Amino acid sequence: MSTSTTVETQGLPDTQPSDPNWWRQAAVYQIYPRSFSDADGNGVGDLRGIISRVPYLQDLGIDAVWISPFYPSALADGGYDVDDYRDIDPRIGTLADFDQLVETLHAAGIRLIVDIVPNHTSDRHEWFREALRSPRGSAARDRYIFRDGGGENGEQPPSDWVSIFGGGAWSRITEPDGSPGQWYLHHFAPEQPDLNWDNREVREDFLYTLRFWSDRGVDGFRVDVAHGLAKDLPEDLHSQAELDALPKDGSHPTWDRDDVHEIYREWRQVFDEYDPPRIAVAEAWVESDRRPLYASAEGLGQAFNFDLLEADFDASQFREIVSFNLDLAKTSGSSTTWVLSNHDVVRHATRYGLTESDPEEEKAGTNWLLAGGPQAQLDAEGGLRRARAATLFELALPGSAYLYQGEELGLHEVAEIPEDQRQDPTFFRNPGVSVGRDGCRVPLPWSAQGPSFGFGDGAAHLPQPEWFRDFSVETEQTDPESTLNLYREALRLRAQLHSGESLTWLETGDPDVLAFTRPNGWTCVTTFGTGSFDLATLGAAGSVLLSSRPVEQNVLPGESTAWIR
Ligand code: GLC
Repeated sequence: MSTSTTVETQGLPDTQPSDPNWWRQAAVYQIYPRSFSDADGNGVGDLRGIISRVPYLQDLGIDAVWISPFYPSALADGGYDVDDYRDIDPRIGTLADFDQLVETLHAAGIRLIVDIVPNHTSDRHEWFREALRSPRGSAARDRYIFRDGGGENGEQPPSDWVSIFGGGAWSRITEPDGSPGQWYLHHFAPEQPDLNWDNREVREDFLYTLRFWSDRGVDGFRVDVAHGLAKDLPEDLHSQAELDALPKDGSHPTWDRDDVHEIYREWRQVFDEYDPPRIAVAEAWVESDRRPLYASAEGLGQAFNFDLLEADFDASQFREIVSFNLDLAKTSGSSTTWVLSNHDVVRHATRYGLTESDPEEEKAGTNWLLAGGPQAQLDAEGGLRRARAATLFELALPGSAYLYQGEELGLHEVAEIPEDQRQDPTFFRNPGVSVGRDGCRVPLPWSAQGPSFGFGDGAAHLPQPEWFRDFSVETEQTDPESTLNLYREALRLRAQLHSGESLTWLETGDPDVLAFTRPNGWTCVTTFGTGSFDLATLGAAGSVLLSSRPVEQNVLPGESTAWIR
């Protein structure tokens, strides 16, 4: 394999034993473990696969990896349905493999963030099984949110709430004596019962889990659905319509409650038991002005900012988002985060290439996917051109950048997955409306040949299209203009150039062109329109260090970014 560079043995912990601020400007690479690299050939990516790719990660130049859930799971939601928070899915590996992964990453100077899923367990978790075996009102049921149903015989759900994945948010159980029984709340799939965070045992158990992984050497946690844990459900439940109309100001019964931060203050005490303190980043889809609460130093410390991910490739939107979020981060003392792609959304190369007429559908990408693929409505080349420009823009910003596996190859969303091979519950629970998130979770192409393009020795668990060959690591490695080499060079320069946590906008005189400079003179210029831009007009002295399209005679072509110094 062309990725077999030797791991250099400098790295953690000798070089940076306890830099408590390592995360503030980090480039973090998200691994979706079942689709990254499959060492044992069973079609599912695994920890040994990740270990074998550490040289690749090191060459890429990232500071940390975040690994999506690897816990035992029936995969009702891609692993976000956790059976046991302190073990590894046997298809993915063992705890011994995990220890070796930590060691190998640290030896390569790469930190490790694991995903923690506290809003819900899976329905196969021992607690939920115990709740099913135990009577109404028991301590075992109190770890979840059980209610009696309405109607004469309790046959109606306690409320008309709709789950995020579609369908009702309550499911009915069968009582131990075989009679139809109580209902439990699940904000996501029925296989993901919501925990009751008023229950002390639930809180204690998560503190134990945080220590379990921290003791094994993980550097931090990505906190799934961080805004969902605290709930305050009245006896008389609101209707869904009433719930939707309530203000999201910290007093909402189910989302983004102020008292969720009491939980994170306890977590912070655990993080601070370690040197350097363990870090955390909240996945909290909240109003932006509430984000600093999650990012506070007394709480999780950092929160995802999804604003760029939700924006169009548009100069004024990008500028406003950047200024707003840099100011916002100051209010919590944290650093901001930038995300363009992750395992839940249509890849950014594809989003920027959709040519649908309905802007709402274009954003979600759903229409393109339902319509059956690239030929119809995707400007694949244009999408990738804009994605490369957006990525260089992102990587020049102060704050940490979260990258998603495969974006460094310029991968597009995969539309052509047959229905009978789809896995995502959002597809099954919304027939005809959503194709779900499998299209960004297709296993990575490592080589131009082989049964799964080098992902493993056999077929991959989600089918890879033929065009993956052109985006394989092996193909891109030798092409100086490839997206892979662009990311590598960008990350290498970024590590050298990052300084301070601020930027200054430069006036470009063109509403489609943004330019900003960092305190050390590192300047980033992006043309969002198709028109080119003469860099000389900026008066920015220096030479072009890197650009997403070739710059000739100081002219930056349309839809591209250049770094100058
Ligand atoms: C988060 C995850 C998503 C998952 C959901 C439920 O949003 O990113 O993948 O389906 O939580 O756990």
